[in-house]
Amino acid sequence: MTVVVEARNLRQVYRIRRGMFRTPAQLQAVGGVSFAIEAGKTLAVVGESGCGKSTLARMVALIEKPAEGSLVLDGTDAVATPDGDKRRLRQAVQLVFQNPYASLNPRKKISAVLEDPLRINTAMTAAQRAGRSAAMLAQVGLRPEYAARYPHMFSGGQRQRIAIARALMLNPKLLVADEPVSALDVSIQAQVLNLLADLQAEFKLAYLFISHDLAVVRHIAHEVLVMYLGHAMEQGPKERLFARPLHPYTQALLASTPGVGARNMQRIVLKGELPSPLNPPSGCVFSSRCPYAVERCRAERPLPLLVDGRTVACHFAGQFLEAGFPAVRGTEFDRVETGRKADPAT
Ligand SMILES: Nc1ncnc2c1ncn2[C@@H]1O[C@H](COP(=O)(O)OP(=O)(O)OP(=O)(O)O)[C@@H](O)[C@H]1O
Ligand SMILES: [Mg+2]
Repeated sequence: MTVVVEARNLRQVYRIRRGMFRTPAQLQAVGGVSFAIEAGKTLAVVGESGCGKSTLARMVALIEKPAEGSLVLDGTDAVATPDGDKRRLRQAVQLVFQNPYASLNPRKKISAVLEDPLRINTAMTAAQRAGRSAAMLAQVGLRPEYAARYPHMFSGGQRQRIAIARALMLNPKLLVADEPVSALDVSIQAQVLNLLADLQAEFKLAYLFISHDLAVVRHIAHEVLVMYLGHAMEQGPKERLFARPLHPYTQALLASTPGVGARNMQRIVLKGELPSPLNPPSGCVFSSRCPYAVERCRAERPLPLLVDGRTVACHFAGQFLEAGFPAVRGTEFDRVETGRKADPAT
């Protein structure tokens, strides 16, 4: 299989000013994330608001340069490529945003929306451009006469189809979709997700699909990357993560979404509030909310380890694999007598 994009240790840091004296501070939005996506496959990134999903999307879509790390896109080192030479790379990766109402210029007809990328980047004639945009409209399930209309004449779902069509005009290899169906009604979401799946199969597209909705992720992902405060907690094949999460955070996310986790899943209730990325917990960033955290977790950042076919950043992933998650009640948990060490504190 062809790897379309490979990210290694991508990190992003924003310099901000805070407080009455506007003291400069550094906010690490993404703290070293690695992944690869093959042609025809979808990597879904999930996690709570502020965990760095959109920042990761912007780096992969070449909108922002990473503070650190490497990004190889379509065989080319994107970080080392000077901005002036990025034209081919920028065609290889396209973005679809969450809000289809804001992402289309209201003054442009759909024909112009779709043909502008061709006008700017190719030597096609007007007739060729019109032909290609008509074909692309059909691809995304819209009628050819829609080309003469303006964005306000369309529903949210139709606009997202148009945004997808625009993204595909230059034959990209990778589509970065940041919450592409979150603004749509649930009934429309499924249609757009099915369209994305059809387009992926037809054009062998790789997707980096950002979502906070695990029901959507289960529908569309091949691989899943679970993020928390800028770090990867668990990543690997969707089936494995959904059937048997090994990071307490993945477990908590799954258990909090009705209908997606395995039956009889241990419900983990997270303690406290999401910490500020300006002041992340020491050791494991999840330790302040993890019901299983012990001293070691607050002292030592767990390295991502390969456990049961996926990568898990938790000191106790191996024990959770052997013995399952000990029962938790609120912020406490019972010691489960399984004959094995079920309690990571011991
Ligand atoms: N341009 C910026 N300048 C300063 N801080 C930023 C900037 N962009 C993002 N951040 C901060 O970086 C962190 C990650 O933000 P990001 O938007 O990537 O999260 P997200 O996972 O996409 O959240 P959501 O689910 O709400 O879209 C947040 O703490 C955010 O406030
Ligand atoms: Mg976001």
